[in-house]
Amino acid sequence: MPARLRALQADITTLALDAIVNAANNSLLGGGGVDGAIHRAAGPQLLAECRGLGGCATGDAKLTRGHLLPARYVIHTVGPVWRGGAQGEAELLASCYRRALEVAAESGLASLAFPAISTGAYGYPAEPAARIAVGAVREAARIHPTVREIIFCCHSRSCLDVYEKLLSA
Ligand code: APR
Repeated sequence: MPARLRALQADITTLALDAIVNAANNSLLGGGGVDGAIHRAAGPQLLAECRGLGGCATGDAKLTRGHLLPARYVIHTVGPVWRGGAQGEAELLASCYRRALEVAAESGLASLAFPAISTGAYGYPAEPAARIAVGAVREAARIHPTVREIIFCCHSRSCLDVYEKLLSA
């Protein structure tokens, strides 16, 4: 039985799941957007834990505790900066979703939420990014059946509309 995939419009920091995914940068030392929101809600201990991780390569993912968040863990991943689409961005973005699911499965986590990685400061067009996200998650969910609930957490109505259309196809 494959995992339950759905899209929600919410602030990801409010979701009480096993893990939420952070769209971080290579330093893992915080930033704006969803990264900033997660660090603000998690408190300073999240940054302290991140300092010990030695950064994160684009397309990779690393686990920390959730600290003051309702989520038990945070899976930090670093999406590609959009540079027009001919620099391997699609593969790197798919890798973020695959690696985050792999880290969740390895850690025995059954529920997680993704933001729309790379579609904010990193400039990835929303619709192609969502298509990659849903495709990569559907494929990875088949490999990791212990992950039971996967949420695409959208911050805007337009983002939610894109995901709902893809998920209903
Ligand atoms: N909950 C859910 N989604 C959110 C939230 C939130 N609280 N805040 C922002 N978002 C959405 C944005 O609307 C966008 O759709 O997350 C998506 C990703 O946008 P960014 O946070 O800008 O992330 P990204 O485009 O991957 O750029 C990462 O920005 O914040 C810095 O340190 C980060 O350098 C890194 C870069």
